[in-house]
Amino acid sequence: MLAVYFLWGGFISVIDEIEAKKNITLEQLQYLLEGNEADYLKERALAVRRGIYGNEVFIRGLIEFTNYCRNNCYYCGIRRDNQNADRYRLSDEEIMDCCTEGYRLGFRTFVLQGGEDGFYSDEKICHLIKAIKGQFPDCALTLSIGEKSRESYEAFYKAGADRYLLRHETANEVHYRSLHPKNLSLRNRKECLRNLKDIGYQVGAGFMVGSPGQTTKTLYDDLQFLRELNPHMVGIGPFIPQHDTPFANKKAGTVDMTVTLLSIIRLLLPRVLLPATTALGTIDPMGREKGLMAGANVVMPNLSPKRVREKYALYDKKICTGEEAAECIECLKNRVNKIGCSIVCDRGDYR
Ligand code: 5AD
Ligand code: FES
Repeated sequence: MLAVYFLWGGFISVIDEIEAKKNITLEQLQYLLEGNEADYLKERALAVRRGIYGNEVFIRGLIEFTNYCRNNCYYCGIRRDNQNADRYRLSDEEIMDCCTEGYRLGFRTFVLQGGEDGFYSDEKICHLIKAIKGQFPDCALTLSIGEKSRESYEAFYKAGADRYLLRHETANEVHYRSLHPKNLSLRNRKECLRNLKDIGYQVGAGFMVGSPGQTTKTLYDDLQFLRELNPHMVGIGPFIPQHDTPFANKKAGTVDMTVTLLSIIRLLLPRVLLPATTALGTIDPMGREKGLMAGANVVMPNLSPKRVREKYALYDKKICTGEEAAECIECLKNRVNKIGCSIVCDRGDYR
């Protein structure tokens, strides 16, 4: 009954309806998460992605510059209470070296990502932003450093930051509570995202797929929240347990579910920048390719120095911790070419 129904004298599938209305019902989501019409869903998502971005895949160079974090999220390997995390900070010089190497390799977007590390005052961050934008004015600079005051976000923007990634993690209050300690709130998270958009950043939200306590209803809330926020980027990847966290023994998210959600998000927000994440590549050796073939159009290889790669362990068995940036980009070029796409070396702005 749900699969097809009569309209305009022809059969219209649920997927066509989602694409046309850019909306989804809880029942339709349930139906797709059960794996129904999986091939057609991917086909439509791929067609929509191709219509807007062609076969171009954008790259973002990720610089994981600190794994100190004042937060204690139950899922995350760099949470404050993880005594086994080997903490590090990159110096400004090391960060600039990452950018220089990244630029040489063709990167025109740098993502400064880190835990919520009190060592970095707003002044330090602004100094870093100015240094990077001064040396690489043709590059976009993205920050991913967590929840800050509106004033801080404004200062970073004025200093030259262009984009900000802050996953909302889950748009369901009860679920949010079960993933985070009391001092973090969904309300503040949403407030941060609204501030960022308001200030003028290109904003990325997102969530983990298969996180403990996630249900079809919480995913439905995520999708409706994304429709409302209308971010420029949506980062989703499977939850993967990290052995030194309270969620060490929880089940990981699956490739199929992640790929299904990537496709749905592509249909709901046709122009959105959608990364095939490292976490997706971690649970399946072909995960990133599967993501790209289901509507994703961005990859975010690691530019961090090799000596710290393993230390930024948000989850277990992360890929590419033994490879140099140059090796990863070479590897990714081949992988992306094999599926009929090509990596482009520009800022890869939202279209
Ligand atoms: N598995 C998968 N993704 C994780 N993240 C944090 N911990 C994990 C984990 N165990 C994601 C969060 C965060 C992003 C930087 O990494 O969604 O926002
Ligand atoms: Fe890092 Fe393939 S992308 S080795």
